[in-house]
Amino acid sequence: MALTIGVPKETADGERRVALVPEVVRKLARAGFEIVVEAGAGEAAYFPDNAFREDGARIGTDSEALGADIVLKVAPPSESEIGKMVSGGVFLGMLDPLGRPALAQALANRSVTALSMELVPRISRAQKMDALSAMSSVAGYVAALQAAAELPRFFPLLTTAAGTVKPANALVLGAGVAGLQAIATARRLGARVSAYDIRDAAQEEVRSLGAKFVELTFETQEDADTGGYAKALTEEKAAQQTALLVPHIGAADVVISTALVPGRPAPILIADEALQAMKPGSVVIDLAAPGGGNCAATRPGETVLYGHGVRIFGPLDLPSRAPIDASAMYARTLLAVLTEFSDGETFRADFEDDIFQGMCVAEGGQVVHERVRALLET
Ligand code: NAI
Repeated sequence: MALTIGVPKETADGERRVALVPEVVRKLARAGFEIVVEAGAGEAAYFPDNAFREDGARIGTDSEALGADIVLKVAPPSESEIGKMVSGGVFLGMLDPLGRPALAQALANRSVTALSMELVPRISRAQKMDALSAMSSVAGYVAALQAAAELPRFFPLLTTAAGTVKPANALVLGAGVAGLQAIATARRLGARVSAYDIRDAAQEEVRSLGAKFVELTFETQEDADTGGYAKALTEEKAAQQTALLVPHIGAADVVISTALVPGRPAPILIADEALQAMKPGSVVIDLAAPGGGNCAATRPGETVLYGHGVRIFGPLDLPSRAPIDASAMYARTLLAVLTEFSDGETFRADFEDDIFQGMCVAEGGQVVHERVRALLET
């Protein structure tokens, strides 16, 4: 018998994405799944119910969507949503397992097999399932656009009869997925872009996008762990780094910060001293706001006016600001996971598979992910 897939309407504040888009519904229907989409689930992303229906979904209630064999979501489920899931069912979506381990426990208590899209390992076989990278690309792009829109001056060099306007200086801190997309977008908008990252491997990527790599002369330690992520710096090195960045930040009209070490609070790279060195009118877009921020003055979800006229933005909803493409990209990562572990009739909980093992947080009534379990025990 066909497995049912449910797509409830997202309920988190400001969330405009939807977990499936019609194009992906069509592929899943062809693969043998039955799909039920809650009425209005795609509205905020401009996918009307009719479009889902035409591509093979049934439009239903929230209880029908949440009561499906496999529930797909963007934002982590609420307690009441978990209460509507079926015992023995599967949840696939963002779960913030390291920030909110209690959610994994709640799903385990409900005997739901819970797979966290944040825990897809960064290995080449799993690239097409990497939702975080997909969403970070969107976030980096949107952040550069926000910077250009908020900066009270031009990004590009302009030669006009009224004089020549110099290009803006944009500095990107953290040249991972979001950072590289921010660099590429700021370059396309005509800014003079420089970037910094602690990983040596990032230098080449930054330069290949036509940006200047900021080299700080201090000793870095080993740069990446086995999962392809950066390691946290020691306290002493972190302080050294923050101090060395001050003149570079002071010279920038725009700073877009994206530095992240997974499972840790965001490192502070933009200290008060650096903000004081910035010119009035300068703008900081702190993408790391969901993890507390890379800037000492960031308030997640808010805009802070600092001292002499520097504005610090701590957006939390960047992917939701391009909800059509963000939803489509996210839906494709879910499709890749689903087709890896299901044929439309059965779901394979395969702990021999390093992708499944990496992303499964709850199974058979237990929290099965070691890091999540350790967090619950502390
Ligand atoms: P990533 O892991 O690809 O990149 C992070 C980069 O930061 C890495 O290249 C790493 O080497 C670098 N880094 C770590 N510590 C550093 C330090 N002390 N100094 C300099 N560089 C350092 O991560 P990704 O996917 O690019 O995400 C970046 C951030 O964007 C995350 O904080 C994530 O939460 C955030 N994000 C925010 C959204 C929003 O709406 N605000 C939406 C999506 C992502």
